[in-house]
Amino acid sequence: MERVILDVDTGLDDAVALFLAAGLEEIQVEAVIATNGNVALSKTVENTLNIMETAGCSCPVYKGSDKPLVRKHVIAGEFHGESGLDGPVFGKRKLQHLQEGDGITEMIRLLYENPKEISIVSVGPLTDLAIALEREPNLPTLVKQIIIMGGSFSEGNVTKEAEFNTFADPEAARIVFSCKAKLVLFPLDCTRQVTLSPERLSLYHAKPGRSTEVFAACMDTYMANYEKHAIGWPQIHDPLCVAYLVDPSKVKTILRKVNVDITGGPSYGKTTQLPAGEDDGVWIATTLDIPWFWSLIDRALAALP
Ligand code: BDR
Ligand code: CA
Repeated sequence: MERVILDVDTGLDDAVALFLAAGLEEIQVEAVIATNGNVALSKTVENTLNIMETAGCSCPVYKGSDKPLVRKHVIAGEFHGESGLDGPVFGKRKLQHLQEGDGITEMIRLLYENPKEISIVSVGPLTDLAIALEREPNLPTLVKQIIIMGGSFSEGNVTKEAEFNTFADPEAARIVFSCKAKLVLFPLDCTRQVTLSPERLSLYHAKPGRSTEVFAACMDTYMANYEKHAIGWPQIHDPLCVAYLVDPSKVKTILRKVNVDITGGPSYGKTTQLPAGEDDGVWIATTLDIPWFWSLIDRALAALP
């Protein structure tokens, strides 16, 4: 069983990552931390609670950071909508409520009590992890691995050179990429390969289940927003990190040192690769088995309410 803490800025593709983690029998979600990112913290918290409620998952949900370490908060509303999760309509929650306390303290506590047992999947800005690393310098020896969606080694998706998650908190990304934990990174170069076709989306609309219905409603919005920007089919970034947990052999990686631009200039948030030293490498995902990935999504959705 893969035990995981998910750090999310729920967003449309974050929602898919949550459904995947909640629906796969190989994964046990220990906690979810909603952080600021795609939209403001109050909205990512609400979206996270609604998705976990839909998935019938009672795992604890905590609040993370409400702003980046240094820079001003930037949002990605043009892809995820005003609420961050435009599309599905949610009723009153019965199962899920926000836990008291902060997610960073809880992350550190869980890792301390379960050394090398729990992975962290971070698919938003890296603020929470950077704060946790500064507060608890032993964290790299306590965590099993940290799997991250972020960065780009070709074009960016928010500026010409930067990807949203590293652009949204470059200073935090720099701290995390240089820590000594086992790090696995899914940059845009890899996640752009996984897109949702209209044909596949229409298959989900024909399937039963409330989670599948919410998933399809989220993906309708995502599809419409990609069409508006004329940039092809929607890219399914965040769930790849969850899929990796289940079977890393389906993902090809290379070991490199990753640098993040924190100059505040036109390349702010841009990631670049350097040769890895003895102990400062990040496993960068380059390709994955895409049919296998969709088979996991199908299996997770079929297992959920
Ligand atoms: C990343 O940015 C966000 O908008 C997505 O949820 C994903 O985590 C892709 O650049
Ligand atoms: Ca995200």
